[in-house]
Amino acid sequence: MEKFYLEAPGVSRKEEAIAYIREFREYGSQINGAGGLNHFLTDYDGWLRMTAERAVAELTEERVPAREFFLVRENDNRIIGMINIRLALNGKMRKHGGHIGYSIRPTERGKGYNKINLYLGLKVCSRYGIKTVMLDADLNNPASWRTMEALGGVRVREYYDDEDSHGMVVVYHIDTDRALAEHPEYEEMAAACGTVGIRE
Ligand SMILES: CC(C)(COP(=O)(O)OP(=O)(O)OC[C@H]1O[C@@H](n2cnc3c(N)ncnc32)[C@H](O)[C@@H]1OP(=O)(O)O)[C@@H](O)C(=O)NCCC(=O)NCCS
Repeated sequence: MEKFYLEAPGVSRKEEAIAYIREFREYGSQINGAGGLNHFLTDYDGWLRMTAERAVAELTEERVPAREFFLVRENDNRIIGMINIRLALNGKMRKHGGHIGYSIRPTERGKGYNKINLYLGLKVCSRYGIKTVMLDADLNNPASWRTMEALGGVRVREYYDDEDSHGMVVVYHIDTDRALAEHPEYEEMAAACGTVGIRE
């Protein structure tokens, strides 16, 4: 069986992380959950410093503390996706963005991998005491909101976003403890690495 874990970014993944972002460009895909790595392709070390700072950033109306992880498939040690977890929300992120952004590399989509990505991300949320996770997605991105629904997400709001996407946005809430308790099938796919599925 394929197994997955979340890995905190480090120097050893430099070439692979850059290749991950390049794949999105090659396929003309939207990039989410990469914590701005797409702007640091020539300064990966600078990105590592930035993510480390962001993990301990103070919550302000301008900034939120957040962590980024690579979703790694243990079987072939390959980066399959990324996830960005905002550890606390300010007013702006509560309105638009929520706790989690994610992506799966274009060549690995449609295989259920984002569901394990979100499951492992919820374990991180649980560790940080986030009981209700808020996520949003464009209505015309069903792969994203269906992932949320697969983990028990409840659609709590829909609105027209006239600032960023200029389209309908759907907002979901996930009860973290319940999602983790109700999905043993994803726990089976989580590689052994402590209780929260992270390798630091
Ligand atoms: C959104 C994204 C992460 C989904 O990744 P994925 O690994 O292909 O998703 P999964 O295979 O785990 O599928 C999740 C759900 O979406 C459904 N789905 C997958 N691709 C779909 C598609 N193209 N159209 C409609 N539904 C789709 C799946 O059937 C599954 O739902 P189900 O459990 O009800 O069957 C991926 O498309 C991506 O990286 N997109 C670019 C970045 C992005 O849009 N991020 C989200 C921003 S909010």
